[in-house]
Amino acid sequence: MNQEHKLGAVTWAKRGSFILAATGSSVGLGNIWKFPYIAGQNGGGAFVLMYIGMVLLVGIPILLAELVLGRRGRASPINTMRALSRETHSSRFWTIIGWMGALCGLMILSFYSVAAGWVLAYFDHALRGDFRGLDGSGSLTLFANLLANRDLLLLLHTVFILMTVVVLALGVKKGLESAIRWMMPSLFALVIVLLVAAMIEGEFAQSLRYMFSFKLSDITWESALIAMGHSFFTLSVGMGAIIAYGAYTPRDMSVGRTVLAVAFLDTCVALGVGVAIFAFVFATPGISPSQGPGLMFVTLPVAFGGLPAGDVIASIFFGMVILAAWTSTISLLEPSIAYLTETFKMHRAASSALLGFIAWLLGVGAALSFNDWAHVEILWGKTFFDTMDFVASNILLPLGGLLIALFVGWRMSAQQLNQEVDLAGSRIMRIWRLLLRYLSPLAILIIFVYSILPVLQAVFGE
Ligand code: TRP
Repeated sequence: MNQEHKLGAVTWAKRGSFILAATGSSVGLGNIWKFPYIAGQNGGGAFVLMYIGMVLLVGIPILLAELVLGRRGRASPINTMRALSRETHSSRFWTIIGWMGALCGLMILSFYSVAAGWVLAYFDHALRGDFRGLDGSGSLTLFANLLANRDLLLLLHTVFILMTVVVLALGVKKGLESAIRWMMPSLFALVIVLLVAAMIEGEFAQSLRYMFSFKLSDITWESALIAMGHSFFTLSVGMGAIIAYGAYTPRDMSVGRTVLAVAFLDTCVALGVGVAIFAFVFATPGISPSQGPGLMFVTLPVAFGGLPAGDVIASIFFGMVILAAWTSTISLLEPSIAYLTETFKMHRAASSALLGFIAWLLGVGAALSFNDWAHVEILWGKTFFDTMDFVASNILLPLGGLLIALFVGWRMSAQQLNQEVDLAGSRIMRIWRLLLRYLSPLAILIIFVYSILPVLQAVFGE
């Protein structure tokens, strides 16, 4: 019988693979595309500070909680929660963490893969030197033409789903582990090359000032909330990806240090890429850092097009984004694939193909949101793409994170936690438990209410 059918039979073969896999999951479009533009829209340094605070207070405690659940359950998030609710004499209700997470992973993958498809197209443009001499309006047209090209978007989305499914179908060791073993070092190397290029050709000092200096008055209530929401998405917490990866960790792992390493690497990539992007932006007259979502696809190509060796830098940049997105998408399906293989003894290849197909189907709606279905509203004023993003990122992730914090904080005993975390009796352990019990749930409830308020207003009128 295939080893991977037995619960808890698989562990990462090499030391450090969990760190690489979890970092691969965390570092993605969230860091490279989203983080720089939301930092640019929310005052640069002030936002960066809030974001780091949220990662420390909310992101890291829940990341650690997910890892603990996975280590204790040694199975897919759904079966882990089933076993742990029994072990802690809690209601079966908590299994919903696993189910919601599986659904959330499919939903995130649907729109994420479409956006990753744009990156494939831009990598191709970069290789062909299409950015040379590009101006603002030319760049806008390039992006608008891509979004309007339904068949191309569908093709690119299909390619990205296939790339994801192939890695997953090969299994935990031959697929995931061997993929991240070469992809993550390449990704880090590319980030460093990009930073060096930014130092040589960009306005590096100005960019550093922009990212790391702030006036206290720039900190707003709204940017705090955006930072909190982003800390979930960027660390991949709230849907069970880390529970699934954590189930494969060897017993003798330094859990606290591992979690800090993942969060540290994720933050370094976000900050490093952010500094590089703004250095290129500041080196290009007439474009501003607060462009919004078009920063990566519209602004940056103009900046690259004006630089010496801009084609090479652009190819490195978009190649890096492909690797980052790829190691993230595999983590979105792993929880549900693990569930199908454990529970129904399905073959990895079959369950990967089945779930990949479901995500692909949802993604068709996301791809059409920019052309044929541009005027179809699914939720109030939101296209299919925006609906998937909103429901998954603003509702399911915080809700999942809240339940995870409450379960680990209140339902698991100190003794059970000490068996999974090598920090028994330390002050860090006590602080972590306090955060999980009170501060993280409270903070999440606040984001949650805040993010659904506009929807409630839209439904019930002012
Ligand atoms: N963290 C990834 C990013 O920043 C996206 C991602 C991958 C994710 N897996 C996840 C987000 C699980 C939430 C949950 O791009």
